[in-house]
Amino acid sequence: MSAGATAHPADGPSLAVRVLIAIGLVVLAGAVTLLVVALLVGPTAFHRHLDAAGVELDGATLDHVNDGFQWAMATAIAAGVTAATAVAVAVATFVARRVSRPVSQAAAAATRLADGDYAARVAEPGVGPELGGLSRAINRLADRLETSEAHREALLTDIAHELRTPLSAVEATVEAIADGVLPADEETLTALRAQTQRLLSLTRDLAALSRSDEHAFRVDRRPLDLAAVARSAVAAHAARYAAGGVTLALEVPATPCPAHGDAGRVGEVVDQLLDNALRQCRPGDTVTVRARTAAGGPGEGAEIAVADTGAGFPPELAEQLFERFYRLAPASSGGSGVGLTIARALVEAQGGTLSAASAGPGRGAVLTLRLPDDRPG
Ligand SMILES: Nc1ncnc2c1ncn2[C@@H]1O[C@H](COP(=O)(O)OP(=O)(O)O)[C@@H](O)[C@H]1O
Ligand SMILES: [Mg+2]
Repeated sequence: MSAGATAHPADGPSLAVRVLIAIGLVVLAGAVTLLVVALLVGPTAFHRHLDAAGVELDGATLDHVNDGFQWAMATAIAAGVTAATAVAVAVATFVARRVSRPVSQAAAAATRLADGDYAARVAEPGVGPELGGLSRAINRLADRLETSEAHREALLTDIAHELRTPLSAVEATVEAIADGVLPADEETLTALRAQTQRLLSLTRDLAALSRSDEHAFRVDRRPLDLAAVARSAVAAHAARYAAGGVTLALEVPATPCPAHGDAGRVGEVVDQLLDNALRQCRPGDTVTVRARTAAGGPGEGAEIAVADTGAGFPPELAEQLFERFYRLAPASSGGSGVGLTIARALVEAQGGTLSAASAGPGRGAVLTLRLPDDRPG
């Protein structure tokens, strides 16, 4: 038995022994049947044959011939059964080896995975779809475990890094106050509060991020009108935009833009897009929220695009914006860089897509949310 496939008392005999027993029983049943049939049918058939040939035998000769016939039959059956047993042992050994080796290897790999060795993989056994399926399933499981472990390590590093910046700032400020270098006045406390608030919003983002990593968002998909979603998002952000001197424009068709999704969740995503756009704009810039039915016509779903004339980004970075903790200008952005990560996870949980595009730095950006219009589920 190979490593990992350690035997357990409840397991009983090995596969090889079981296959041998099964084939042995078949051989035994065959031999017994053969013997019974031979003893019942053989002599009658033999004598009928002698009668038909006109052979007349007296008592002593008949006994002799009968003995000879039975001995010949017994020898033939014994030889046949011996040969069949030998073949059975060979076949049982061969089949058991072919079958049990991949199974033991699969068990060994699963044991290594359970022990935290995510590099364990099983070779393709090449003995039929069942065992092939088993080893592919184990390899897929190993891939998943390996990726999620790498993901977890990277996440912990990112989180430690994100926590360190505001915490060091708080630590430095508190120390300076204690040393009498900084006065504990309004200005210092405001700066401190800004750091603690950053920590608080980071913990909120982390909670949302862990839900998005687990794909654990609860979305309630229903028919909805993206034109109406765009309209209410613009209304909700109008005051903030006005305060920032940024124009917020709405472009929606007169007819509804039907799609399937969770209106509350779509609203959260558009809020995130409008929040980002405002931070990338300077006074005098414009952000336009457009809703429209997707290019394929009704039934293809609909989209909302948030287009700004702000900072933009190099086009090749478009996908990176959706990576967690990614910020183009970390110092000035004020966010933790998980807004778009969460937004995309939310949209994908509804069967939609969220993408970003820009003609380049200083040339604005467009973030597009697309939702299908199929039935939920
Ligand atoms: N409309 C936009 N124009 C240019 N860059 C953007 C825009 N929206 C997002 N980004 C970039 O993507 C980064 C990630 O955005 P996000 O995940 O929402 O994080 P955060 O807003 O916390 O920085 C931002 O820091 C910014 O650099
Ligand atoms: Mg953001």
